[in-house]
Amino acid sequence: MTDLTTRTAARPVTRCRTCRADDWQDVVSFGSVPLANGFLDPAAAYPDEPRYPLGVVSCRSCRLLSLTHVVDPEILYRDYAYVTSGSDTMVRHMRGVAETCRRRFGLAPGDFVVEIGSNTGQQLAAFQDTGARVLGVDPARNLAAVADAAGVPTLPEFFSAGTARQVARDFGRADLVLGRHVFAHIDDISGVVSGLRELLTPDGVFAVEVPYALDLVERLEFDTIYHEHLSYFLIRPLCALFERHGMRVFDIERLPVHGGSILVFAGFADGPWPVRPVVSELLRLEESAGLYGDAAYRDFARQVERTRDGLRSLVRGLVAAGERVAGYGASAKGTTLLNICGLGSAELEFCSDTTDLKQGKVLPGTHVPVRSPQAAAQDPPDCYLLLAWNYADEILRKESAFLDSGGTFILPVPEPSIVAA
Ligand code: TMP
Ligand code: ZN
Repeated sequence: MTDLTTRTAARPVTRCRTCRADDWQDVVSFGSVPLANGFLDPAAAYPDEPRYPLGVVSCRSCRLLSLTHVVDPEILYRDYAYVTSGSDTMVRHMRGVAETCRRRFGLAPGDFVVEIGSNTGQQLAAFQDTGARVLGVDPARNLAAVADAAGVPTLPEFFSAGTARQVARDFGRADLVLGRHVFAHIDDISGVVSGLRELLTPDGVFAVEVPYALDLVERLEFDTIYHEHLSYFLIRPLCALFERHGMRVFDIERLPVHGGSILVFAGFADGPWPVRPVVSELLRLEESAGLYGDAAYRDFARQVERTRDGLRSLVRGLVAAGERVAGYGASAKGTTLLNICGLGSAELEFCSDTTDLKQGKVLPGTHVPVRSPQAAAQDPPDCYLLLAWNYADEILRKESAFLDSGGTFILPVPEPSIVAA
């Protein structure tokens, strides 16, 4: 069953998604892993869960990092358990993104903003607050319906050149097209960028927010590698992609969210936006970090191995010493971390998570049950493995009572470390 699923629903990557070359360096391979958001209903026994190969290669021509295999998006996204976080960190961040775009491009009331992968519409609601007219596009039918009901009109579609044409025809051209943490999920990004030609106004802006591969490599965030993330971007491959489509990157902001992200602004090459110095500064930074050569990725793979072994021994050691350990935050990277480290229900009693859709389910692969924070607080463990480490500041603040009462947190990356009061 596993092999059949793999053959029919995951295909090996061939050419580079951004520059079309086909000279790949092998970086890491984690074997066959279940889907990060494939939460299951509790059962006495679990049937053969589909697993797909999970590994990363680096394009020697432009240094895009790509997964080795692409899982059929119909399997990943039509019914999706990931809901945009309502955490303070993200709410503040989304307001910041709307404000940045308003300030930088003079986005005025009545201007038209289209968001690709708009989830439940939280980011677009922040644009609505600034007076913009908005439209979301998201293939998750369950989430598009939630967004619609909340007053954020949303097309339940995958975004493609065809969708771009349809939106321009039915709703007009967009002043801003935004893709936050969605570009890495799309295989045919070249098709998306080619669609912008028909959707954006001539001086329109495409703003794309992605995790920054420089941060991934430097901070060993290897658990952000899962089937939904097909690409891990440096600036160089993004420049290569936009150039192929008559566009150019003209500005970039580095952001602290999701372990280090970049908000990249691109416009048409003959458009009005001057290229800011930050673009060449970051290209130089990537080069000086060695990220355009093979050696940095060999080092990365070695360090990942060390962190993985270290985390496994640390958690197993605590359990062997009689401590009760649980997961905190059933994030996609968290379920991935457990699966690729070989940690599971032998070590973790449960995993606490604020998302309604996840509570009462079990984690993919490891089958650790998900509890609400309220249920978890009734009978807290001795130690939480912080699987949602991207919210570490917020969570450690929120859990000060747990820490004060002697509880501890394990931060898994870049090196496993224990936080106590
Ligand atoms: P994300 O990193 O993909 O946004 O996922 C974070 C997960 O962690 C999500 O399932 C919600 C959960 N979470 C908590 O359980 N408690 C919290 O305080 C925060 C911020 C997130
Ligand atoms: Zn390439």
